[in-house]
Amino acid sequence: MEFTTKITSFFLLIISLLIPTTTTATCTNAFCRRGDPIIRFPFRLKSHQPQSCGYDKGFDLTCGNNNGVNRTTITLPFSGDFTVETIDYEAQEILLSDPHNCLPKRILTLNLTSTPFDGDYTRPFTFFSCPTSEYLSFRSSNPITCLSNKTSTVFVTTSPRVVNHLSAQPCQLMKTVEVPVRWQVYEQAVSYWGLSDNIWLTWRVPRCRRCEGPEGRGGKCGIKSNSSREIVCSDPPKPAIPRRVRYAIAIGAGIPGTLVLFGVVCFVYSKINACIKRRHLISHPEINNTQAHSSQSSIMIKGLDGSTIESYPKIVLGESKRLPKIDDVTCAICLSEYEPKETLRTIPLCQHCFHADCIDEWLKLNGTCPVCRNSPDQILSSENINS
Ligand SMILES: *[C@@H]1O[C@H](CO)[C@@H](O)[C@H](O)[C@H]1NC(C)=O
Ligand SMILES: *[C@@H]1O[C@H](CO)[C@@H](O)[C@H](O)[C@H]1NC(C)=O
Ligand SMILES: *[C@@H]1O[C@H](CO)[C@@H](O)[C@H](O)[C@H]1NC(C)=O
Ligand SMILES: *[C@@H]1O[C@H](CO)[C@@H](O)[C@H](O)[C@H]1NC(C)=O
Repeated sequence: MEFTTKITSFFLLIISLLIPTTTTATCTNAFCRRGDPIIRFPFRLKSHQPQSCGYDKGFDLTCGNNNGVNRTTITLPFSGDFTVETIDYEAQEILLSDPHNCLPKRILTLNLTSTPFDGDYTRPFTFFSCPTSEYLSFRSSNPITCLSNKTSTVFVTTSPRVVNHLSAQPCQLMKTVEVPVRWQVYEQAVSYWGLSDNIWLTWRVPRCRRCEGPEGRGGKCGIKSNSSREIVCSDPPKPAIPRRVRYAIAIGAGIPGTLVLFGVVCFVYSKINACIKRRHLISHPEINNTQAHSSQSSIMIKGLDGSTIESYPKIVLGESKRLPKIDDVTCAICLSEYEPKETLRTIPLCQHCFHADCIDEWLKLNGTCPVCRNSPDQILSSENINS
């Protein structure tokens, strides 16, 4: 009975949020095109929302041209225009990409000192330019194709060992840049990460988390007045529904709600069951040994040894469960979603992530990435043949 009341109040809350309120909101949300982030305080869509709708100039956005499409754009001093892929108002973070698809080139000129943004952590990334023939004789990081050409290969590393090694080579140190990164990588093999296609930046001022969080319940964050930068969180809209209507909604929504919840519980239960079965299969490879044998003989791909597997970068997920590739939310091997504090391992070449214990077992049997079948050894061996 108590359970039903809880569900009922949950539905009531949802409904109260949906019913339009008559607050005198001068700042309406804006966006550049469908699917782009909603623009609201502390951001402002320049020439669409009044100045008082944003916090300050650092948060001004425009709809810029990204390959012929109007995309949300922010202009950073020194680095120019970036496309804003995501705005996480609660975590106070934005995800940026380069409209010209060469983020490393933009990173080379990155300087965030006069912007409201920085990173959760930063890491020194050192850019090198090597004669391509030299580059092929060692292998420390993936080349940055958009900065390389036939004669010189540009790549980036975070490893002091590699920096020392390369300084003795006919390579040219281009620049060392402190790049904001999202998580702490505790393995040495970070050079494999290189730079991804996106960069996360966070802002610490203004703080609207109290307003944005689940406790905020639809309150609106904004500046108190044009003269002061003080932040206020307007009261959340109060549900003004007569008691009789509320009872009607409670009965109308409570019963279907319970049924839906029951369905969800059943679904989750069956998923968990399936996952346990899969994990069991992986940790007992003898079950499909025959299969592994036949594929080994036909395409000559064998497993990797322990030290190679250990050299692949590991990460421990934070509370936000963020990954370098944002669409990776489940482990492709056991099909379960990642949870905070879990340890993942990455295949350096393709940057696909998996639970460390899942991928370790896999790599012992088969040296290719289970998702894209990229073998970390394939590139190596083709380089050896060439040289
Ligand atoms: C992009 O936005 C500008 C105005 O900001 C508009 O004139 C132009 O037509 C838009 N282009 C597209 C492709 O939507
Ligand atoms: C960034 O720009 C500021 C000036 O706005 C300058 O003082 C600072 O040295 C620059 N930092 C780097 C790393 O270039
Ligand atoms: C290749 O790129 C380097 C800089 O990375 C540049 O100095 C050189 O002129 C380029 N060579 C060609 C053939 O474009
Ligand atoms: C700030 O000034 C603008 C006019 O410049 C005005 O329309 C707006 O209401 C003011 N906002 C506040 C919060 O005082």
